[in-house]
Amino acid sequence: MDSLRIGFIGSGFIARFMAVAMQQVRDCEVTAIYRRSGSEQLAAEVKALGLSEPRICDSIRELCEVCDTAAVFTPNHTRVAVMEEIAEAAASGAAVRNVIGEKPLGRTVQEARRLLELAAKAGLKTAYFENQIYMNAVNNALDQLRDQRRTMGEVVLVRATEEHAGPHEAWFWDPTRQGGGVLCDMGCHSIAVARYILTPEGKDPMFLEPVAVQADTALLKWGQARYRDQLRARFGVDYATTPAEDFATGIITFRNPESGQLVRGQFTNSWMYDKQGLRVSIDAHGPGYGMEFNSLRSPLEVFVGDEAAESVADAERAVEKSTATRGLLAVHPNEVDLYGYTTEMRKTVDSFRRGENAYLTWEYGLEITRLVQAAYMAAERGKTIDLTDDSVLRELEIYQSPIAQGKGAELLY
Ligand SMILES: NC(=O)c1ccc[n+]([C@@H]2O[C@H](COP(=O)([O-])OP(=O)(O)OC[C@H]3O[C@@H](n4cnc5c(N)ncnc54)[C@H](O)[C@@H]3O)[C@@H](O)[C@H]2O)c1
Repeated sequence: MDSLRIGFIGSGFIARFMAVAMQQVRDCEVTAIYRRSGSEQLAAEVKALGLSEPRICDSIRELCEVCDTAAVFTPNHTRVAVMEEIAEAAASGAAVRNVIGEKPLGRTVQEARRLLELAAKAGLKTAYFENQIYMNAVNNALDQLRDQRRTMGEVVLVRATEEHAGPHEAWFWDPTRQGGGVLCDMGCHSIAVARYILTPEGKDPMFLEPVAVQADTALLKWGQARYRDQLRARFGVDYATTPAEDFATGIITFRNPESGQLVRGQFTNSWMYDKQGLRVSIDAHGPGYGMEFNSLRSPLEVFVGDEAAESVADAERAVEKSTATRGLLAVHPNEVDLYGYTTEMRKTVDSFRRGENAYLTWEYGLEITRLVQAAYMAAERGKTIDLTDDSVLRELEIYQSPIAQGKGAELLY
């Protein structure tokens, strides 16, 4: 069977990471890149990596004509418009058969539903990209603990966090474009990976029933005057008038529909984590056993003394969102693999080449969007949201948090 021809729409941070991951994935190539800022540079990087010589396309339609798979790696607020063009191209006979959507699928439930509807109408297979559930550390721990899970009982508590010092592009900081703050941006990762670890082996990723959500959102660092000034100067956003949360935490209770057992996923996310760089930390506990993972612990250490520090030009070469260029640096020998990007792409390529949806579909992406929105609702109202109540579920269908509406100052100050 031929290689899967993938077209990248979006040539920024995640697209570049994915290209590096694809060095370790068989049977696929970056066939085309949609022309936009960064596309020429990405094409040169893809060529230098030895992956392919991608064609740069002037329209999404042209990209869909030469690719089997459109990978949407664009900012959250552009997702629906981009997908409308892909669906139109597919409906009018372009070659495209599959679509990849990065997290978060939608900024609201309504938006995620619209994306699903477009993909279904155009007959496209879908992949929702949530890399953390593909992390080897997570899956190795689950393998190691298989016997304990069977004999002692399943995992009952997962604490999942993802934190760093703040995003790299202005649109992430603007809650009206991004869909909120760190809860929308990274809460989706932690909620998904917690749910995945809590799910019994062999069950569908949506097997557990969400029962209740408690949450809190806060602005702890970037609302302070001197950091607001930094945001204004660096990204042109004004956190005095239009802030987003830089800290979010909460608990989601799930019910096993077969045993009735209640289990909990606790998430904590922040953009005010001033340590070496991005930290994903996950711990999971079942009766009599447990696991713990911290992405900042690496088998590799690099030390740069003050005298030598000036020669280090790019802090992010060490680890994603790295904030330091000297001292003892956490460095990852294979960062794309650590975060699960390699396995995510490999499994998706395998599914699409078999003509199937990926393991995580856009239905699953919609479900994660719904849980994130329920967390915003819980934080706004200061009370537990009952996900078994039909009237709450109806409200969630049209809910948009005040933060995403640009009214976060009323809530966060
Ligand atoms: N899974 C992860 O760990 C992870 C990490 C980072 C980003 N992401 C997700 O990936 C998506 C992109 O994030 P990023 O960090 O790469 O953003 P980015 O700002 O670095 O790059 C965005 C790219 O999209 C292009 N673009 C902007 N508007 C467009 C439009 N209207 N049509 C077509 N292209 C357009 C830009 O030119 C740029 O090439 C986001 O949804 C984000 O949440 C996921």
